Amino acid sequence: IEAHRGAVLHFLDDPGNDSDPASGSIEYFEDGLLLVHDGKVAMVGDAEALLPRLPNATRLTDWDGGLLMPGFIDTHAHMPQLPVMASYGTQLLDWLENYTFPHESRFADRDWARTQADQFIQLLLAHGTTSGLIFCTSHPASVDALFEAAEHQGMAMSAGKVMMDRHAPDTLTDTARSSYDDSLALLEKWHNRGRQRYTITPRFAATSSPEQLELAGQLAQAHPDVLVQTHWAENEGEIQWTRELFPDRSSYLDVYDHYGLLGANTVLAHGIHIDDRDRQRLAETGSRIAFCPTSNTFLGSGLFDLASARSAGVKVGLASDVGGGTSLSMLATMAEAYKVCRLRGQTLTPWQAFYLATLGNARVLHRDQEMGNFRTGQQADFIVLDQSASPLLAMKAPYCQTLAETLFNLMILGDDRAIAATAISGTIRYRRATAALPESSS
Ligand code: GUN
Ligand code: FE
Repeated sequence: IEAHRGAVLHFLDDPGNDSDPASGSIEYFEDGLLLVHDGKVAMVGDAEALLPRLPNATRLTDWDGGLLMPGFIDTHAHMPQLPVMASYGTQLLDWLENYTFPHESRFADRDWARTQADQFIQLLLAHGTTSGLIFCTSHPASVDALFEAAEHQGMAMSAGKVMMDRHAPDTLTDTARSSYDDSLALLEKWHNRGRQRYTITPRFAATSSPEQLELAGQLAQAHPDVLVQTHWAENEGEIQWTRELFPDRSSYLDVYDHYGLLGANTVLAHGIHIDDRDRQRLAETGSRIAFCPTSNTFLGSGLFDLASARSAGVKVGLASDVGGGTSLSMLATMAEAYKVCRLRGQTLTPWQAFYLATLGNARVLHRDQEMGNFRTGQQADFIVLDQSASPLLAMKAPYCQTLAETLFNLMILGDDRAIAATAISGTIRYRRATAALPESSS
């Protein structure tokens, strides 16, 4: 048994978005203990009460004031787009054509794919993200590279080969048939191999022929436990183009609906420009939205309406959408989500934000029996948050008088510097270099 001492916070259920969280949704121990056995959570509780009862062989790590939380989960990001981040003053369709597609073309090279996948996994760990739903490229080797890198660290990833057979350079396009065959082969190789899960990944309607969407839908129907991910209703130009490409469909959502691509296994990235009929259909089918705030503001795509989605009963996850997004940090992502909500006249409590980044996102990915909180038996994927390495966080921390204020501080001013350590199944896989604080003199 290993014991980790620090403040411990996790969610048992959705706390809602009121300033007073629903009772019973949160468990918090100011001086707590996280007990790990065989990579799984054995127990959480109060340190003073538990310490005297631990077996002699227990290895105790004292995180010295750090805040232990379940690892963050990212419900939408692109492994091949790290170097596409922060390019270069355009909106979605130009951004894809000028920066993203040329860069993704490099993944035809297997060695490049491996290097980038390794770097992506290392960066996720350094940002406190322990799992995610990930786009690779249209090259099957990019999927092997990501899963191999994740497996090496023991991380649980859901990911897939991008299906795209038109409106892109031929260094990236597949065909309807080859995309089906390659996806099926990767699914058979990786789905449920250890903690890895394959995900059916048509890029978005505009880069798929009707035949390709048809086959993607067939693959999904034949594998009812496999997730589907795509992009939806992100940008006005994209929406208009899709309308022209699929004139027989009543809406953008109806394109995916028609090809059997909606359902509780489906995660649609963005979903900004939508209406009540769309929300109703999402709720009926159980389809989920990944809210990608830093991408939506950076690319000028629009302001996602979180309150309307919630009140329509649509499940929403929080996501970085790197490389459209500008940070891999789920803390930075929460800050942007908060600001988007404010611009819409809504609010996002820190309770709701931290819930979304952990248990909420685990539920979106159907992984909440494995991760997202510290219930006994969950995989011990956890992070240690600490405000000392980030000068502004450290300055503000002493002024925070309640846990809610501390969480607010972390979500608005926090970034990767707030991640002191990241553990996968109880094994520390990342540890921040010690903060170089100025020496005090007297
Ligand atoms: N729509 C289709 N492909 C992409 C992509 O790679 N990023 C974003 N943000 N939107 C997309
Ligand atoms: Fe995306």
